[in-house]
Amino acid sequence: MCGIIGMIDAKPVALPLLAALRRLEYRGYDSAGMATLNEGRIERRRSEGKIVRLEKVLQKEPLFGTTGIGHTRWATHGAPVEKNAHPHANGTLAVVHNGIIENFASLRKELEEEGRRFESETDSEVIVHLLTREVERNDGDLALACREVLPRLKGMFALVAMFAGKEGLLFGARCGSPLVLGFSDGDKGESVGYFGSDALSLSGLAERIVYLHDGEWALLRAREEDSQLFDANNAPRGLSLQPMPVMAVALGKGNHRHFMEKEIVEQPSVWSDVLSARLDPATRRPRLPALPFLFRDISTLHMTACGTAYYAALVAKYWLEAFAGIAVEVDVASELRYRAPVLRSGDQVAMCVSQSGETMDSLEALRLYRKAGLKTIALVNVEQSSIARLCDVVLPTHAGPEIGVASTKAFTTQLLTLACFTLTAANERGWLSNEQTSSFVEALTCLPGLAARCLEKFGASESQFAEAAQLLARAHDVLYLGRGVSYPIALEGALKIKEISYIHAEGYAAGEMKHGPIALVDDSVPILAVAPYDRWFAKTLSNLHEVASRGAKVILVSSARGVAAADEGGVALAARVVLPDCEEVLAKRTDADKSSEENKTKEGEENARGWSVLEMMHPILYSLPVQILAHDVALLKGTDVDQPRNLAKSVTVE
Ligand code: M6R
Repeated sequence: MCGIIGMIDAKPVALPLLAALRRLEYRGYDSAGMATLNEGRIERRRSEGKIVRLEKVLQKEPLFGTTGIGHTRWATHGAPVEKNAHPHANGTLAVVHNGIIENFASLRKELEEEGRRFESETDSEVIVHLLTREVERNDGDLALACREVLPRLKGMFALVAMFAGKEGLLFGARCGSPLVLGFSDGDKGESVGYFGSDALSLSGLAERIVYLHDGEWALLRAREEDSQLFDANNAPRGLSLQPMPVMAVALGKGNHRHFMEKEIVEQPSVWSDVLSARLDPATRRPRLPALPFLFRDISTLHMTACGTAYYAALVAKYWLEAFAGIAVEVDVASELRYRAPVLRSGDQVAMCVSQSGETMDSLEALRLYRKAGLKTIALVNVEQSSIARLCDVVLPTHAGPEIGVASTKAFTTQLLTLACFTLTAANERGWLSNEQTSSFVEALTCLPGLAARCLEKFGASESQFAEAAQLLARAHDVLYLGRGVSYPIALEGALKIKEISYIHAEGYAAGEMKHGPIALVDDSVPILAVAPYDRWFAKTLSNLHEVASRGAKVILVSSARGVAAADEGGVALAARVVLPDCEEVLAKRTDADKSSEENKTKEGEENARGWSVLEMMHPILYSLPVQILAHDVALLKGTDVDQPRNLAKSVTVE
């Protein structure tokens, strides 16, 4: 969503602002702009479309000045055209804003009645006029003006303002949406001050940063000792700066064509990192941060999330119910408030799953859980995020920064972390013995190697994904099917392909086809089945017979045993994607370890409900082919893989 950058330097800021706007591109946007102070006057350049268009505008009409603000806009109120692009400005001040001013209509009416003229259709422009009015009323006292304006604005937002004639000063405020303040030491020992809507936008610029807390506002100057930070009650608070973390975006895409490709490929090593962080070598069991409850006291876990993170929560529902006997309620965050969930503290806890930790729908759902007194867990990739700060416990997923809008490694690291969470719950509730838990853990450590095998030919012309990708790329509609733990992966696969290749795709539980969707089947609708050779395979195969006999082109994603069974069963496959067979890999390992009594594996051993570690491994491994296929289809269609149209990486509006 919208990105904010602000900068005060001794040197011209237009070029570094432009570079920072490029780092904000991953958030998703449809117009961009910047403004600087040139000898005290506000000058601005804006353009609809991508940053490259703003760059062309700047080449024709450069901006000068050492104090400036920049913005990438994801349209909410008003079309993505130049007049609605930020900064919004008058002769007195310029503003960039992220989020929504919910009472903008009444404020606009009030301001227009005073004779103030609006140029745009945005909610953001009311901030310009409100601030201007308060600057006028308070004889130019900017701090007072800013203080007066903030309580008038309703909604969740962050903003930065720059004032004519006030070189070296920026005002910034956080009311729900993140804002980061930072500093670096310039070449000649002078200091540079920054605002950014996330730490990533300041990577390569700021050396020290501080995240504003909700309700806080700041008057930024180039030097940290001259800058002031105020809390929500307008009391000054010290700047406790922390070193800027090293950001992957600063390292770039390496040899990869897109961030999404890079993020898919790095999964084997990222999964190893997650397992190293989560597994205790001494006990050979998972290691979680201290939790404010005991698993044995829990009857229900409420989970909420959006998009891909929601599908990770759905997988966890299967796991936690089957392996640990905990009832799990999973809600799409944007809907939770529109039903009346039965929430009670004591035997219920809640978890919010989010890559960014900033998704507004998830934040609001989380507030509902907290209001009901539930202890809350944040399963997030960004540890400093708003969701993390609001929860009692943070379970970081350790994926590293994810830049591609389509979530890949964030999803699989959510799954791995949830697998460790499930095993801890199962162990503490006595559903898995210590020995069983350790053998499950050992099986999970095979996943990075299996992923590496799966990715071996990704991107190569002889890739086994090519045939399936061609088939999918020619279609207007695609169905993804899965059963059991593979069902959420089918949903995720369908989301992935529609996000980046704009092909209409739906995921269904394989058994649901005959209850309606089978009416869609003909030879123009490819059907992709996520079907590991597992306890549910035979039933899914029957469903594939049903669609194949109605002309569907079936793409089977399975192991060699699954594909052989489909061939033997006479299902005509249009394409096949063959994954390593987890069961065989575990069996081989067992054979190799037979001599060691201690290592005798129990992976094949089933728990009380007949589930084995395979049901934990399959959804994680089978996430890879659906990611790869979405990526390859997008390449064939020539769409923008990393920044698909209309989408934002971090969705900070409801
Ligand atoms: O940052 P979050 O995990 O809270 O984001 C939730 C969704 O917006 C996100 O997963 C979205 O569906 C992705 N674009 C999926 O690829």
